[in-house]
Amino acid sequence: MKKRDLISVLDMKDDMPELIDLAIKLKSERGRHGAPLEGKTLAMIFEKPSTRTRISFGVAISELGGNPLYISSSELQMGRGETVEDTAKVMSSLVHGIMYRALDYKIMDEVGLHATVPVISGLDNLEHPCQALADMVTVKEKKGKLKGLKFVFLGDGNNVCNSLMYACAILGIDMVVACPAVRMPNAEIMLKASRIADENGCSISANVEPLEACRDADVLYTDTWISMGDTIPREDALRIFRKYQLNSELLSVAKKDCIAMHCLPAHRGEEITAEVIDGPQSVVFDQAENRLHAQKAILYKLLK
Ligand code: CP
Ligand code: NVA
Repeated sequence: MKKRDLISVLDMKDDMPELIDLAIKLKSERGRHGAPLEGKTLAMIFEKPSTRTRISFGVAISELGGNPLYISSSELQMGRGETVEDTAKVMSSLVHGIMYRALDYKIMDEVGLHATVPVISGLDNLEHPCQALADMVTVKEKKGKLKGLKFVFLGDGNNVCNSLMYACAILGIDMVVACPAVRMPNAEIMLKASRIADENGCSISANVEPLEACRDADVLYTDTWISMGDTIPREDALRIFRKYQLNSELLSVAKKDCIAMHCLPAHRGEEITAEVIDGPQSVVFDQAENRLHAQKAILYKLLK
């Protein structure tokens, strides 16, 4: 059987609703999974720091009966010139899956190409698919549905935004990207997401006016203004993104029961105010916990 990777949200195009429901089911069965992944080892390579992704994948594979193997990229021979192809082939003969947080999406794709075991992205500079899955689990739990919702992403059109555009398009959610014109998301991804949205009766649109964008929203989402590896000077970021801060003014024009989301780590006073992230409409810690349940659904589907 051909191995299956999860490098882009598009790799879940046909079964994202099923994965969301599986994550919710596994959440309700925590502690009673048995050991469906007994004897399976998941290698986890990190080229950038991580709190949530690292811990949730480690706990997820352990609670499913498998073994986590954490590898810092600086300790691999790849850093001394061993090719990506050789590394991927060798690892495929030793472990059952590779979770990779990469600096460069091209290396991610190369690992996917040469590995004969599933490769799961734990974020690269283009996407963060596992985050998008956990976020949609959270939205479904909080709203009881996905189709027809209005979802607004505020701030930098980054990797998280790209994955959320695909996720919303696949799930029938209307998404508005409220980013400054100079920091709109990846144009190719936006076009592809819009085509998928067309097929699913929803839309992906852009609006540089945040107040207008947030009107009647069901979900307001933001992420850091300076992603890992981003070279934008801090003072430029603070100036460009200021009016896109997720604050009580923007929340006040959204629906009364609108939820505020952030993938974390957050910078209070920058992309989100303390009042909002620590307030009653915030679901950010549910999102963080749901990383665990979403990773379990992914591991179950890809490694079982
Ligand atoms: N949201 C997220 O991926 O967090 P980490 O960088 O801590 O893994
Ligand atoms: N956009 C952020 C997400 C961190 C989880 C980054 O890439 O740093």
